[in-house]
Amino acid sequence: MTRPIALVTGASRGIGRAIAERLAETHDLILVARDEAQLQDVSIACQATGARTDCIAVDVTNFLATAERLTGLHVDVLVNNAGVAVMKPFLDMTAEEWHRMVNVNVNALYHVTRAVLPGMVERGHGHVCTIGSTAGRNTFVGGTAYAGTKHFVMGFSESLMLEVRDAGVGVSVVMPGSVDTDLFPASTNRTWMLEPRDVADAVAFVVHTPPHMLVHRIEVRPLSPKRPRESSTPQSH
Ligand SMILES: NC(=O)c1ccc[n+]([C@@H]2O[C@H](COP(=O)([O-])OP(=O)(O)OC[C@H]3O[C@@H](n4cnc5c(N)ncnc54)[C@H](OP(=O)(O)O)[C@@H]3O)[C@@H](O)[C@H]2O)c1
Repeated sequence: MTRPIALVTGASRGIGRAIAERLAETHDLILVARDEAQLQDVSIACQATGARTDCIAVDVTNFLATAERLTGLHVDVLVNNAGVAVMKPFLDMTAEEWHRMVNVNVNALYHVTRAVLPGMVERGHGHVCTIGSTAGRNTFVGGTAYAGTKHFVMGFSESLMLEVRDAGVGVSVVMPGSVDTDLFPASTNRTWMLEPRDVADAVAFVVHTPPHMLVHRIEVRPLSPKRPRESSTPQSH
């Protein structure tokens, strides 16, 4: 039987890897990130559940390269997951850090979505799920750029949802609190955080709703942390 196809950006590790492995239970996968060796590793894990996989090593901040590699691909579910975080006070942030966050967390949403959305609209079927954050509706010291980009995700996703739902394309945003991934420095206390597979379950939930309904926004938080917070790293949970 033909499976639907899900494209996951930032699939080489962390939350994206967990999403790919979770969706591999029901979908074939197109795995996108820069690290080809890590993508191959994820690809093998996904194939173990019967999924067919394609790995595309591309920097999603590069508009031309992304358009060249992704335009015209048949994609039923797009998960815009690739993201970076530099959390520090505005006056300590370099221009390079600011631009990197805006390029990955904001501009790449245009590059990737622009490449695959036309096919969904033509087929009258599809789903675009973007990984936002609770920082998309909260603010915190050290969050001028990160929280700013995740607020953008909310405006982008809700506007796009209104534009394409009549064409049969659903748009959703999954907003996790803090998740135990490489996004945080190694020294961070992680015992109270969500696991990447928790976010993957939320993505699977929004993707698998009946065709006539859409869960547009879902916020995922840890419950009953194993230990009280100890770290002083800026956090949003
Ligand atoms: N961890 C958290 O607490 C948390 C909480 C809420 C939301 N989120 C969001 O969840 C998403 C995933 O974060 P994570 O925690 O899983 O981070 P992570 O472990 O650092 O993984 C980030 C992923 O993004 C990819 N990526 C980064 N820059 C890229 C680029 N220029 N081109 C292509 N791929 C790129 C990386 O792959 P390569 O390096 O191989 O390119 C990697 O697969 C992000 O949008 C993040 O904002 C995370």
